[in-house]
Amino acid sequence: MSLFTRRDFGRAVLAGAAVASTSRPFLQAQENCAPPAGTPVDFVIPTAAQNIIRKSVAELTTSEIARLRLAYQRLRDLTTSDPDDPRGWLQQAHVHCWMCGGSGGDIHGSWTFLPWHRAYLYFHERILCKLLNDNSFRLPYWSWDDSNYRSLPTIYRPAQVGTAANSLYDGNRSTDAVAGKSMPGSIFPALQNPMNSANFEAFGGGSDGGGSLEFGPHGAIHMWAGAPQSPYPDMGNLSLAARDPLFYAHHCNIDRLWAEFVRRNPAAHANPSDPDFLTRSFQFFDENKQLVTIRVQDVLDPVPLGFSYRPGAKLSTKKQPKWTRLKYDSVTHLVQLPAPVAAIARQRSVVVKNVQLPMTSGSYNVFVGDPPAAGADQFRAPNYLGYIGIIVGEHHHDQKCSLVLNATDAFLQSAGGAGALLTFAPTGTTNGEPLNFSAAYLTEE
Ligand code: C2O
Repeated sequence: MSLFTRRDFGRAVLAGAAVASTSRPFLQAQENCAPPAGTPVDFVIPTAAQNIIRKSVAELTTSEIARLRLAYQRLRDLTTSDPDDPRGWLQQAHVHCWMCGGSGGDIHGSWTFLPWHRAYLYFHERILCKLLNDNSFRLPYWSWDDSNYRSLPTIYRPAQVGTAANSLYDGNRSTDAVAGKSMPGSIFPALQNPMNSANFEAFGGGSDGGGSLEFGPHGAIHMWAGAPQSPYPDMGNLSLAARDPLFYAHHCNIDRLWAEFVRRNPAAHANPSDPDFLTRSFQFFDENKQLVTIRVQDVLDPVPLGFSYRPGAKLSTKKQPKWTRLKYDSVTHLVQLPAPVAAIARQRSVVVKNVQLPMTSGSYNVFVGDPPAAGADQFRAPNYLGYIGIIVGEHHHDQKCSLVLNATDAFLQSAGGAGALLTFAPTGTTNGEPLNFSAAYLTEE
């Protein structure tokens, strides 16, 4: 029987960073989520750890893939041969479970999110090194920041490799992930790039709320990868997520993006210096089954711990989108584009501010010019820009909102002439009304 209370990544993503850890349901007490007992010793930063660069999953060589599979096979074997060994695969997964609302508290939804997971991966990696008897092993990262790698990495997919089980396989994944489909672009909205966060708090969280990385792509990718049925195993449920080897590659990328965020602007993006942050401690079992107390300040610099990342990340190559205010005539409702439109870069959106919402609840489509003829597929119309969904009970007289719409070719090509007329139409009708708003912008990334 399942005692899981779902740790709902999806809701957190939708609600954004406003979700504080304290407002989320705690996992019910569960035997397996209790931290194993032990007498901890204080962590000592290794004096001679070899600084080895963690690579992306995509750049592993054939022998490195074999080594990764062997590492997880030995981790799984340990759970079979000695279920109580704290280093085994399932016990490792329980470490995550007990720190996500189990008896160990909750390190999600606040500034402990990044350092706790860094320490977790560090000990996990040391355990894998020990099982391999190879201290040069490093965890790979799943580089989903690069749009070329937004599907489940192939080495994690098949259940079998040749005649042997694939230790990187997990049966509890979404059909889209298993089919090798790409993540929806909605996980990476052009205007909500966590790498553009102004400071650590916005990026990685503060003392009482999570940041844009955690509640943006981190959570959305967990939900995307997990099986769709309740309780959303494995990746889609925090108490189960670390049972999927993919979890460690996902979090390795989170960790890398943190390092990159700091590297890009060491002053503005500095880690918090608050003593409450620096001295916050956590416990993990090391590769010798010794319980160790490690503090946030011990993990802020990865190099002494023996790993680092090459500079650069795809999400970080772009700065804030460039905003261009468009001329808008509130009498004719026409929006004018700057010429030449052909030179505008790929990621383009139209942002309209203070849109006067239609007076009734329902869904409205937004078009450049008139809606398509009756019976046509509105979503596929070349002049379709986006929609407004007004939920029953949400609408008041005079309510306004801002909309981010696709900058379609139809929109861009309307420049130079009389300008573009943005209209909205109740779903399925051909009656377009001009959209009334205060200002329009074109954004480019
Ligand atoms: Cu501890 Cu991705 O969550």
